[in-house]
Formats: sequence, structure tokens, C-alpha cells
Amino acid sequence: MKQTILLLSALFIQCATVINAKDIRLPAPDMKENTLSLTRTLQQRHSVRNFDKTKTLSLQQISNLCWAATGINRADGRLTSPTAMNRQEIRLFVFTKDGVYEYNAKENTLVEKAKGDNRELMAGGGNKAPNGKKSFRQTFVLDAPVSLLMVIDFEKFGRYDEKAVQMGCVDAGNVSENINLYCQSAGLATVPRATHDTEGIRTLLGLTEKHLPIMNNPVGFEKK
Ligand SMILES: Cc1cc2nc3c(=O)[nH]c(=O)nc-3n(C[C@H](O)[C@H](O)[C@H](O)COP(=O)(O)O)c2cc1C
Repeated sequence: MKQTILLLSALFIQCATVINAKDIRLPAPDMKENTLSLTRTLQQRHSVRNFDKTKTLSLQQISNLCWAATGINRADGRLTSPTAMNRQEIRLFVFTKDGVYEYNAKENTLVEKAKGDNRELMAGGGNKAPNGKKSFRQTFVLDAPVSLLMVIDFEKFGRYDEKAVQMGCVDAGNVSENINLYCQSAGLATVPRATHDTEGIRTLLGLTEKHLPIMNNPVGFEKK
């Protein structure tokens, strides 16, 4: 009995050093998932803006989705989405009703960055338009169980000039398109979006001007 308790305590300490209790260890991405062929996916890809708010994604689906977006697909650590000079500067944040997490591709974990439901920040409207009114908002995103946010990290890119902004935007587009195609092939619904509350996101996640929230993809199931 004493031995079992000691063993369990040792295991607990070992786990605690590897993963914070609030973080989520994802199941391995399913490489044998029965998805549509690339040609069929391209034939069918389209944006969806009406989500079934009664349906959620499983951790397996979130794992597959994050891996498709910007997971590691080679032994040298390169990614499913290409980045200029392999700078890997696109950070992926997962907004759910429970919290905001950053995808750690190497560990296959979701690292908690904020507690609670902050999907409202994906609707937009936080930044004042030039006429002083609240800017454009899209509340349909609140019905999607998950929103994936792409943030360009210019510190990771190593430069913050016009070319870096161009490359960051292209690289974020690559991640977003991976999400678009994966969703279509796996029976999930999504739309690539540039609308969100940039300053609200920076404040929540402790980001600076060297981190640019640039695109997001709400993901869920289409309401039929
Ligand atoms: C860079 C970019 C930004 C976009 N931003 C938004 C957005 O903020 N809100 C939205 O509803 N759709 C947004 N879209 C989706 C487009 O409106 C959509 O892709 C387009 O109408 C074509 O429709 P399809 O995706 O079904 O082919 C965006 C698409 C791209 C590529």
C-alpha cells in the first residue's frame, strides 16, 4: 500500500513537471482519419457562417485540427504550414468556452493563457472605427465551439519591418488555408476571418505591438 502511494506520488510529480495542471495534453493527431481526398476537398471548400451551438469538438478533433493548422510533420521540426525562411512565427491560440490556450506543437499540448469564455473577442467591434463608432461585429462566431486565432510573432520572425509584415501575413494565410481545407475534408465548418478585437486580444494575452493577431477561423458544425 505504502509502495503504491509512493509510486503514485512519484508519477504525479513527474507529470507536474511536464505539464501544468491547467494545460491540456492532446491525444496524438489521428493520421489515419478518414478524410476526403484533396481534390474532393478543393471541389467542396466553402465558408460557413451558421454554426450549431449545441455541438462541441472533441479533444481528438482539436488535436487533428491544430496539427493540420501548424503541427510538426517532419523529424527536423518543420511544420504542416510553410513559413518564410522556416521562421515558424505564426502562433496559434485556441478560444473555447472554458479558456484560451496556445497550441504547443512540440509537446502536443494546449497551454492555458486565459480562463473563461473570451470568444466575444473574435466577434470584433472592440476597435473604434475612424468615425468614432464601434467597428464591424459578427456575433455568429459565438455559436462556434472553438475559434483558432493566428498571431504573427515578430520577435520569433527576428525582424519587424515591411517585409516581415508581408511574410507574416502570407504565413498566417497558409495556416488559415490549412484549417479551411482540413475542416472541409473532415466534415467540420469554418470561415477564414480578419475581424476580431485586436487590442482586446493583446490585453487579454499580454501581447505587444510585436505580436499581431491577424486571422481567425471559428470551427464547429454547420447548423442545418
Ligand atoms: C483575408 C480574409 C479575410 C476575411 N475576413 C472575413 C471576415 O472578417 N468575416 C467574414 O465573415 N468572412 C471573412 N472572410 C471570408 C470571405 O468573405 C470568403 O472567403 C469569401 O466571401 C469567399 O467565400 P468562400 O470562402 O465560401 O469561397 C475573409 C477571407 C479572407 C481570405
